[in-house]
Amino acid sequence: MNVGFLGLGVMGRPMALRLVRSGIPLTVWNRTAARAEPLRAAGARVAADPAEVFARTDTVLLMLADERAMDETLGRGTPDFAARVGGRTLVHMGTTSPAYSHGLEADVRAAGGRYVEAPVSGSRAPAERGELVAMTAGDEEAVRSVGPLLAPLSRRTFACGPVPGALLMKLSVNLFLITQVTGLTEAFHFAGRQGLDRRLFLEVLGAGPMASPVSLMKAPKLLDGDFAVQAAALDVLKNNRLIAGAAREAGIASPLLDACHALFEETVALGHGGEDMVAVLRALEARTGA
Ligand SMILES: NC(=O)c1ccc[n+]([C@@H]2O[C@H](COP(=O)([O-])OP(=O)(O)OC[C@H]3O[C@@H](n4cnc5c(N)ncnc54)[C@H](OP(=O)(O)O)[C@@H]3O)[C@@H](O)[C@H]2O)c1
Repeated sequence: MNVGFLGLGVMGRPMALRLVRSGIPLTVWNRTAARAEPLRAAGARVAADPAEVFARTDTVLLMLADERAMDETLGRGTPDFAARVGGRTLVHMGTTSPAYSHGLEADVRAAGGRYVEAPVSGSRAPAERGELVAMTAGDEEAVRSVGPLLAPLSRRTFACGPVPGALLMKLSVNLFLITQVTGLTEAFHFAGRQGLDRRLFLEVLGAGPMASPVSLMKAPKLLDGDFAVQAAALDVLKNNRLIAGAAREAGIASPLLDACHALFEETVALGHGGEDMVAVLRALEARTGA
């Protein structure tokens, strides 16, 4: 299998590195060329443009920022699109709206290509360790064929039926993550404003049944005011929008998510979009006032 990889950002770079290091012949491309250098050093072929990646490979993984980045890279809406995806398997690993992915699948199939949705849960560190959780959707044979590419990247892979089942699964998981971390942050803020010892609060929480890997990871960040990014508030807002959009489209109530949505909009408006999602604390502080 000759494999291509488009998008070497925070997630794409460690993922592509794992594929090269596990012996998969890889051709990569990134809009900002310098980001491809670690891949070249690890033995990947670096392409000059996306067209070269498609010309050299039969399966192409995309880990791009958003829908616009994907359409531009695929040449969607131009004659280049059919030339690129025809006869190839496209694996969409980023996070976009399920509706977008559904439409892209139809276009890829019409152009004679195969399409697999494979979004992942986990951030940069699990990506480096090959411990992402992958969700797949699409034609069963196509999903099976990309299994060996997902194995070096992920701890577990879950088949989620037809497209856009995997993205809907990813959004469902993210809904819990967003409400959980916002709830933890609000409780931390409440305890502090009530004059409690915030360290003691987090210890009590950590000893009880609500402790989780996520709460234990976020608690020290809240206590130390350490907002270095694990998952940026701006990305959380993007995911929040995607979930809210999918909920509205299907007429599903999502009151907790909607409250978080407003708080993350405020967090970003206050200038904390580039900080970790626990910076939602700033929005809670602003609502409370001095
Ligand atoms: N970070 C996480 O924890 C995480 C976890 C799971 C899923 N995701 C999802 O995975 C995807 C990638 O995330 P990331 O954290 O790796 O993002 P990132 O660091 O911002 O990387 C985005 C990638 O998209 C490229 N790109 C952006 N606009 C483009 C355009 N118009 N044309 C071509 N390339 C373009 C960037 O190229 P340049 O290098 O030139 O900017 C970069 O390679 C997103 O959909 C994100 O929501 C992220």
